[in-house]
Amino acid sequence: MKKIAIVYHSGYGHTAKQAEAVRQGAASVAGTEVILLNSDEAQQRWDELDAADAIIFGSPTYMGSASAQFKAFMDASSGVWFRRGWQDKLAAGFTNSSSQSGDKLNTLIQLAIFAAQHGMIWVGLDLLPGNNHSKGSVNDLNRLGGFLGALAQSNNDQPAEVAPIESDLLTARRLGERVAQVAAKYQR
Ligand SMILES: Cc1cc2nc3c(=O)[nH]c(=O)nc-3n(C[C@H](O)[C@H](O)[C@H](O)COP(=O)(O)O)c2cc1C
Repeated sequence: MKKIAIVYHSGYGHTAKQAEAVRQGAASVAGTEVILLNSDEAQQRWDELDAADAIIFGSPTYMGSASAQFKAFMDASSGVWFRRGWQDKLAAGFTNSSSQSGDKLNTLIQLAIFAAQHGMIWVGLDLLPGNNHSKGSVNDLNRLGGFLGALAQSNNDQPAEVAPIESDLLTARRLGERVAQVAAKYQR
């Protein structure tokens, strides 16, 4: 049995929906156990993160980077960093924001650097970019065209019941599935 942890923050529920889609994707792979923790809960459950084969990090993009709440989790992990507790675990990331770009890439880079500081091995997204040709649409998987992780966009006047849209949730789902598939083949 492979264990995958998802640690996320969400101020208004949109990134939480993305996190749930990542969870569903990971859980769809046979032999995978998934725990979904918000960034406050995660700071009380270091043992479960230590036991995971992979940790997938998710944060909304606030002011062009991870939210302060997620950064608090990152900083709180410095004790784990010191004892190299997550060395050679798999890692991946996702983010959501209201603008199409919104500087989301900076957040994923931040998460990837965070994982690298922990000695983790980053797993990117393997979906080709969508919505980048004349017959494309917002319903394409990976419509925002990222490889480093899963991107989602939520209109700033819409609640989490309707945003992000299905294609972004399916993109997030694929990230979770991919990490679980890689974990199944990987021996730490
Ligand atoms: C403090 C703050 C800063 C934000 N900064 C950005 C930003 O840099 N880029 C962007 O596209 N959206 C930005 N947004 C919009 C959020 O990313 C967007 O509303 C997102 O869906 C919130 O996710 P959540 O519901 O999981 O908190 C910001 C929102 C807040 C509250």
